[in-house]
Amino acid sequence: MEFRHLGRSGLKVSEISYGNWLTHGSQVEEDAAKQCVQAALDEGITTFDTADVYAGTKAEEVLGRALKGVRRESLEIFTKVYWPTGPGQNDRGLSRKHITESINASLRRLQTDYVDLYQAHRFDHETPLEETLKTFDDLVRQGKVLYVGVSEWTADQIAQALKIADEMGFDRIVSNQPQYSMLWRVIESEIVPLSEKEGVGQIVWSPIAQGVLTGKYLPGQQPPEGSRATDAAGGSAMIARFMNDDVLTRVQELKPIAADLGLSMAQLAIAWVLQNPNVSSAIVGASRPEQVRDNVKAAGVKLDQDVLRRIDDALGPIVERDPAKTTSPRPRA
Ligand SMILES: NC(=O)c1ccc[n+]([C@@H]2O[C@H](COP(=O)([O-])OP(=O)(O)OC[C@H]3O[C@@H](n4cnc5c(N)ncnc54)[C@H](OP(=O)(O)O)[C@@H]3O)[C@@H](O)[C@H]2O)c1
Repeated sequence: MEFRHLGRSGLKVSEISYGNWLTHGSQVEEDAAKQCVQAALDEGITTFDTADVYAGTKAEEVLGRALKGVRRESLEIFTKVYWPTGPGQNDRGLSRKHITESINASLRRLQTDYVDLYQAHRFDHETPLEETLKTFDDLVRQGKVLYVGVSEWTADQIAQALKIADEMGFDRIVSNQPQYSMLWRVIESEIVPLSEKEGVGQIVWSPIAQGVLTGKYLPGQQPPEGSRATDAAGGSAMIARFMNDDVLTRVQELKPIAADLGLSMAQLAIAWVLQNPNVSSAIVGASRPEQVRDNVKAAGVKLDQDVLRRIDDALGPIVERDPAKTTSPRPRA
């Protein structure tokens, strides 16, 4: 495994992190979840990403149990707050009340005294940014949170937060967690340049487009049994945006590129996001331990300009680049 700094902070993270959205407490039974976490640890992954909302709060519990007994100092545990965790008006968003209640519940479920990174899962248009940032800063002072980050915030929202933090002396945001893959490059024109200037690192999600960039979904054919595209518990709806013949046909054209490099398609996709120096880590998901073992081999792989050009030629117009695709619900979800 290779390691990178999380933005300009002193924290090092594994280039490949393990995330448990749609898997732990949902698509994947607890035994398989534990085997995936063990495979991640065996392969040198030290960074684990979850969220209060995953599997209706069950994902944090599964991860907490799977990591039990592992030396806490050898792990970086990341979680998030924003999406609803209950039926009430205050069971969501980035108010002082919800953040305070949610971190306490997350720490209980994860069986830890602190998380290494606490992330605002989306921007909350209904709460003053000062209130959110002051609350995060208080959590840092209380030792419950070591670093603060955001997810799917626009460049303007990140810039506003950094300005307030500098004026008020709060801890600065060190990371952003956006979707980023060969197919989804919407951060490149605005978020990455700002983040490079401000020392914010990207921890990117769905680097293999939820499995699509492995090439296992073939145009015009039923998805393989047991894959995310067949997961009625939620996965199939989430992956739907990529499940059309235009995308699946173009993705098949990446196969010879991966083969020429001796890489699996998943490794090529993960290596691709890691070529961007503003990316601190690529968070991969897995429904079985073999996938983790396949994916980690992307760490440290260098892709030359010719390979990057061949990828762009193969994918052509299906690549999404519009920065306006970074959005948060308005009003609050
Ligand atoms: N901040 C946010 O808003 C946000 C949103 C989404 C995700 N995330 C984070 O990012 C993490 C990763 O997201 P993701 O799960 O969509 O990422 P991904 O790595 O793009 O997709 C993972 C899925 O692809 C399939 N897969 C993985 N490796 C494979 C391989 N080698 N061969 C074949 N299939 C393979 C598996 O699904 P099947 O085996 O079921 O097909 C696996 O669950 C999440 O767990 C979460 O921590 C954050």
